[in-house]
Amino acid sequence: MIYINKLSDHVDKQVTLKGWVYNYRSSGSLVFIEMRDGTGITQCVVAKDDVSESDWEAATSLRQESSLEITGTVKADERSIGGHEVHVSEVKVVQIAEDYPITPKEHGVEFLMNNRHLWLRSQRQWAAMRVRNEIIFAIHTFFQERNFVQMDSPIFTSNAAEGSTTLFETDYFDEKAYLAQTGQLYGEAMAMAHGLIYTFGPTFRAEKSKTRRHLTEFWMIEPEMAYYDLDMNMDLAEDMIRFITAKVVEKRKSELEILERDITKLEKVAENPFQRITYSEAVEQLKSKETADMLDQMIEDRKQEKKDIKQEREEIKKEHGSAKKWRKKQIDQRVIEIGQRLDQIEEDYRNIPQWKESAQNFEWGNDFGGSDETVLMLQQEVPLMVHRWPAEIKAFYMKRDPEDERLVLGVDVLAPEGYGEIIGGSQREDDLEFLENHIEKHDLPMDVFGWYLDLRRFGSVPHSGFGLGLERTVAWLCGLSHVRETIPFPRMMGRLKP
Ligand code: 4AD
Ligand code: MG
Repeated sequence: MIYINKLSDHVDKQVTLKGWVYNYRSSGSLVFIEMRDGTGITQCVVAKDDVSESDWEAATSLRQESSLEITGTVKADERSIGGHEVHVSEVKVVQIAEDYPITPKEHGVEFLMNNRHLWLRSQRQWAAMRVRNEIIFAIHTFFQERNFVQMDSPIFTSNAAEGSTTLFETDYFDEKAYLAQTGQLYGEAMAMAHGLIYTFGPTFRAEKSKTRRHLTEFWMIEPEMAYYDLDMNMDLAEDMIRFITAKVVEKRKSELEILERDITKLEKVAENPFQRITYSEAVEQLKSKETADMLDQMIEDRKQEKKDIKQEREEIKKEHGSAKKWRKKQIDQRVIEIGQRLDQIEEDYRNIPQWKESAQNFEWGNDFGGSDETVLMLQQEVPLMVHRWPAEIKAFYMKRDPEDERLVLGVDVLAPEGYGEIIGGSQREDDLEFLENHIEKHDLPMDVFGWYLDLRRFGSVPHSGFGLGLERTVAWLCGLSHVRETIPFPRMMGRLKP
């Protein structure tokens, strides 16, 4: 069996492909089948004269998503998808599909989500999953090449680690257990045994927020490093993001094209250093006059743009009547684009003043909301690292800043283009007494943290780590507007099926 993504090795040769009908059209004595086999899509042309009568009948009985085997000769063809076309000599039907619910016309998101098991076959979804796979592979490559050992943390746990409000509770025989929110605490124990480790596993949070960034089940990559301080931690996070981005651009160009991703934006990420600022500097920037002016200017720019594209629309609509067929198509397409852009502009009109208000009134000590993150990132083309946060809003395990005891040595990495936080990390508190007091202060049950405190009793060392959210990373690199399309079967508030 030959796979479609290897057709270039078989030009002018006969091949047999096994797959499904992605798209189908017939005209007289020709049938055009866009066939997909999981590795790609190629056009197969069946000419009535080239096949047996029964194969012609089979070809004309096909419908969308029918499964089939095709034998034919591969021809190089620049204009065809994938650069090839198959001239068919045999058609064998495996199954004629029933009426397929997902047709080339537009569908609503709820409908598509309810049919996620089928939606996965659509080209954009397919492309996103290929990028996801590349990111996963790149992450393993990055850490394995740097002497890290992958280790697995338990999913059933007896304690909260990232705040008790987002715990999924379950019955563990007669005990209470919780699904892991993070593998980190176990990662710390493993780092004391192996030096450099990373976990790569599912994590669970009962997030009661229906945003485009939140899943209740998501995959997290959590490196943990003995003898690393915060700066080394940030260096590693930056190198990792650059490495992943470069690999995706290098190896998944055609998928990024299907997703209409602007690759130049990713190339900048792969090539440029990330800026690092403290939380306090970030707050100052949010509240600055420059930021307020910039947001005002954005509104002005939108006003001008609205005027311009409305005028453009008037002009091309006038042209439509007498235009050639190809030009009519182009105009129709552009009119749709302009409509979408106008909707976006209306949304910006509603949002930007709210962003401005939130930014101007931000108070030191609070956590950044989604809109604050967006505003901070408006002029950033590459991720921004925000470090040294108020202790009050961060987890109990973060190390105090020796220079300022209001702060912890934590870092968040924000992605550009409005994608927000993709990494949270820190240097860990390694002082036994401090940590004991702190666990008490956070009202956490001391008994379940006994083993964790042991790590500070037996050869405590400075150590650090971070967690990268896989789905947010996929969303950002693919340019997807919602994390629900970044994982095969998303779990969100209100979504447990399929
Ligand atoms: O910032 P968080 O909560 O950090 C931790 O869990 C640490 N224990 C990590 C560590 O230091 N080892 O989560 C880390 C990342 C976030 O930056 C985000 O990318 C992702 O996990 N994340 C989510 N992704 C999707 N849906 C959610 N509900 C998420 N919550 C966090
Ligand atoms: Mg965080």
